[in-house]
Amino acid sequence: MKKLSSLFVFILLLKINAMMAQDNKAHVLVLIHSDNGGTYELAKEIAAGIESSNHASAVIKQVKESSSQKLKNIPVATVDELASYDGIAFGSPVYFGNISTGMSEFLSKTVNLWTNHALEGMPATVFMSAGSGAGKELALQSFWNSLAVHGMVLVSNGIRGTETMNKAIPQGNSVLGITSVASLKDVERPTKDERLLAQLQGRNFAKVAAALKGTLSKKETASIEKPMDFKAMLQQKNIVLPQVPKPAGNYKPFVRSGNLIFINQVALKDGKILNPGKLGVDVNEQQVKEATKATMLNVLSVLNEAVGGDLSKVKQCVQLTGIFNTKDDYTKHADLMNVASDLTVEVFGEKGKHARATLGASSIPVNSSVEIQAIFEVE
Ligand SMILES: Cc1cc2nc3c(=O)[nH]c(=O)nc-3n(C[C@H](O)[C@H](O)[C@H](O)COP(=O)(O)O)c2cc1C
Repeated sequence: MKKLSSLFVFILLLKINAMMAQDNKAHVLVLIHSDNGGTYELAKEIAAGIESSNHASAVIKQVKESSSQKLKNIPVATVDELASYDGIAFGSPVYFGNISTGMSEFLSKTVNLWTNHALEGMPATVFMSAGSGAGKELALQSFWNSLAVHGMVLVSNGIRGTETMNKAIPQGNSVLGITSVASLKDVERPTKDERLLAQLQGRNFAKVAAALKGTLSKKETASIEKPMDFKAMLQQKNIVLPQVPKPAGNYKPFVRSGNLIFINQVALKDGKILNPGKLGVDVNEQQVKEATKATMLNVLSVLNEAVGGDLSKVKQCVQLTGIFNTKDDYTKHADLMNVASDLTVEVFGEKGKHARATLGASSIPVNSSVEIQAIFEVE
């Protein structure tokens, strides 16, 4: 009996040790965009290299859903989860000596992380799948440009693994990070040397990620949680809030009831209605979309006033209703209203997602092509 209980305690200690070791490991995200799977092939080697170090665990995710058979089961990363890792290995195809559009679009959504310094001090490394290899180092460096703006610690690959490399064929080795020269079909790509270099890159990166794990000071971590600087974010995104339109009658630009703010606006811009009239008669869809954007900017401007110029007090966009001046048989109101919805989500992220209604009207006040009614919940 005594022997049995000592065995039980021993196994328990082993388990606790294993759990602690797991917890002490650096958690690395291998974040990719890939069209045809070349970048994914390298990502698997990078992840294997990370795991082989015993210092870190790796998870591969992609920046957007893919319809490719090879890629469709890879989970899609959210922007917000990036800050939760101890390091990120970024991979993308080379597009015209640059990072790919898919990766670029994803990174352009990280403005909130940037303004909150959320990735500062976190190690990053990059790898790419190229076609001919033209501009591959420019492309790797362009990756670094974006990550440097985030204040990430850029981990180069240096010169490793080249001793045994077959130098008789073009290979994607680079000191900045591994690439694969995918369109050269003399041998299978990535070559076994490119795969090895990717593993070595992952292994080296894991060491750095593990060494830096938890080194962000409490003060810096606290800054991650501080409220978002909306003024800087709007400026960065080139979103200019217009002057709050003056009421044209016996009403107020907004009413606050409890924690809800109610706002109604039309397409007033610089003192006159932008693209006035009926869709399909006086104006086309593109013009109504422009008017919709101007209208939503008016809504945001009034909202900004309602929260005393501090948009971080907005808890949720609850509902948007878009009313469009259309002919009886028009049905694509949702396309028009997407302009307003997209702008709201661009500004507020998840908090900008709302319930929505759209409808057509035979006329709208002051001959505007659109009116938007909005309800926001605020602190
Ligand atoms: C728009 C576009 C631009 C590209 N520009 C380059 C380039 O400048 N240099 C290069 O070597 N390959 C270039 N390629 C080829 C891709 O980098 C190559 O096919 C890569 O292996 C794709 O990676 P994936 O298999 O992960 O999608 C380009 C491909 C596209 C679609």
